[in-house]
Amino acid sequence: MERWLTLLLLFPVVFFSTVTSAKGCRRPQLNANINVAVDQMFFDPGVELALSCKDGYTPISGPRKIVCTTSGAWTATKFLCKPKLCPYPDAPSNGDLYYEDTVYQSTINYTCQEGYILSGSSTSVCQANGTWSTPVPECIAVTCGLPPIPEFGMIVYNTRVRGNTTDYGITGTYKCLPPYALFGDATAECMTSGTWTKTPECRRVTCSLPENIDRGYMSTNDQRDFDYLETIKYGCTGDYVVEGSLEIVCQQDGTWSEKPSCKAPCKIGIDRGRILYKGKKMWIGDFNPNKVLHKDIVSVWCMNNARKCGYSVSTQCIDGRLVIPECYEEPSGVNYNLYAGSLPSEIQQC
Ligand SMILES: *[C@@H]1O[C@H](CO)[C@@H](O)[C@H](O)[C@H]1NC(C)=O
Ligand SMILES: *[C@@H]1O[C@H](CO)[C@@H](O)[C@H](O)[C@H]1NC(C)=O
Ligand SMILES: *[C@@H]1O[C@H](CO)[C@@H](O)[C@H](O)[C@H]1NC(C)=O
Repeated sequence: MERWLTLLLLFPVVFFSTVTSAKGCRRPQLNANINVAVDQMFFDPGVELALSCKDGYTPISGPRKIVCTTSGAWTATKFLCKPKLCPYPDAPSNGDLYYEDTVYQSTINYTCQEGYILSGSSTSVCQANGTWSTPVPECIAVTCGLPPIPEFGMIVYNTRVRGNTTDYGITGTYKCLPPYALFGDATAECMTSGTWTKTPECRRVTCSLPENIDRGYMSTNDQRDFDYLETIKYGCTGDYVVEGSLEIVCQQDGTWSEKPSCKAPCKIGIDRGRILYKGKKMWIGDFNPNKVLHKDIVSVWCMNNARKCGYSVSTQCIDGRLVIPECYEEPSGVNYNLYAGSLPSEIQQC
């Protein structure tokens, strides 16, 4: 022991150099996908380290062993690990899939087309052993039961419906049995949620006997309630003309549709002159009785004094009022009786 100590004091340099020359290796700096079996930080020269790939990675090249040399460096290696590949995934029928890669830890997202519900997992991950974490999900067609039918109502489908289920997208139209009126949306549709659109209601609607119109008459005078969609006709007396619909209908809100009105005939307000009425040119004195109906068109003649020619101008009877064009000049009685040939209606036409 004493000799050993002396030796140590006498040859410190030699001793030190021996220690440094025998230095080991630090833990090797390796790619993150590579596993080193041990935890320690320092290794003695000559130590061998076995390399392997982490879970989910496969070795592709190079020696799988490195050795700590006396110079404190590890022997070289081209050992590499690449991620494992999962098989190319299939899309579910009536669905789609989205993925960027099929390597370890990649994710697939699955979706179903409109009208289909995804059954299973909507995502799958490529696992360390190269398999997908979940099987391809299924896209199951949405179905609705049969739609509720409102009381006093019915439904007419746009396609044939068999059994007691209906597919997504099927539509129908609700109708109420007369005299019930439909309140709500008449269109029925099996929605993506597997339920039907809101069912409308069928309610009884009545209208009471409407009032007569001025100068008119009605097809009925029954003092009773009229059902939804029942109709009543109107007419006008004498030379009055119906304007609007001849028939009114009892509407869903319990009121009648707009009533027509009776429009008055007109008198042509000239005493001496010719008129053109329904393609016939005649003297006003011969037009008996002097009466045209609402909307009728009548022409009178005016004079173009500059060019010494006559021209006709039309006007229309509107509910008892027929405006004589301003250019019309009533001839004097003498002119009318003695010089009728010089009136605008008789001379050359412009
Ligand atoms: C999958 O869905 C997730 C979450 O919605 C999203 O973050 C990711 O980008 C999607 N991946 C692909 C490949 O579409
Ligand atoms: C792959 O790994 C997963 C998760 O660890 C496991 O459930 C599955 O059985 C493995 N598959 C095969 C074919 O080894
Ligand atoms: C549908 O009809 C079948 C046979 O007609 C019946 O067994 C089943 O219970 C019905 N399902 C519903 C929800 O009514």
